[in-house]
Amino acid sequence: MASHLSDGQALTAVRSHHADMLDRASALSQTLTAAVEAGDSGTVYDEKGNLIEWCTDELVPHCVAEEDRIYPTAAAVAEAQLLVEGLRHDHEAIAALVEELRVSDGVRAAAVGQAVVRAFALHADKEDALLFPALADRAGSGFAEAVEGLEEILGAV
Ligand SMILES: [Fe+2]
Ligand SMILES: [Fe+2]
Repeated sequence: MASHLSDGQALTAVRSHHADMLDRASALSQTLTAAVEAGDSGTVYDEKGNLIEWCTDELVPHCVAEEDRIYPTAAAVAEAQLLVEGLRHDHEAIAALVEELRVSDGVRAAAVGQAVVRAFALHADKEDALLFPALADRAGSGFAEAVEGLEEILGAV
C-alpha cells in the first residue's frame, strides 16, 4: 500500500475491511448455529469460543480504533455530530452483545451470535454509507491521515 492514502483510497479501504469483517463474522456465526442445530455440544463449545475470540481480537479493537481515530475527525463536521453520537451508542450495544455471548450457551449462544452479526452489519452500513463519505468528501477533514496504517480499520496490508 502506498505510504500516503488519498481520501478516496481510504474510503475504499475502510469499506472493504468492513465487508471482510462481516464475511468472517457471518461465517463464524453460521458455523456456531449449525453446530447447535446438529446437537454437537463439543463443536458448539469450540465454535462459540471461535466467535468470541474474533469479537475480542477483531471487532472490539475495530470499534475502539474508530472512536480513537475516526470519530474525532467528525467533530469539525456539524452534520456528522449526532450521527457519531448514535454510532457510539451502537458500539456500546455491540460490546454488550459480545458480553452476553460469553455467558450464553446452546440455542441462546447461536441467537446472540446472530444478533452480534446483524447489529454489526447495520452499524457498518451507517458508517459506510453516511459517516465515512461525509468525512472523505470534505476537503481538509484529515480522513485518510486518521486511518493510515491502522490495521484495525484498514485490515492487514
Ligand atoms: Fe463502528
Ligand atoms: Fe466500523
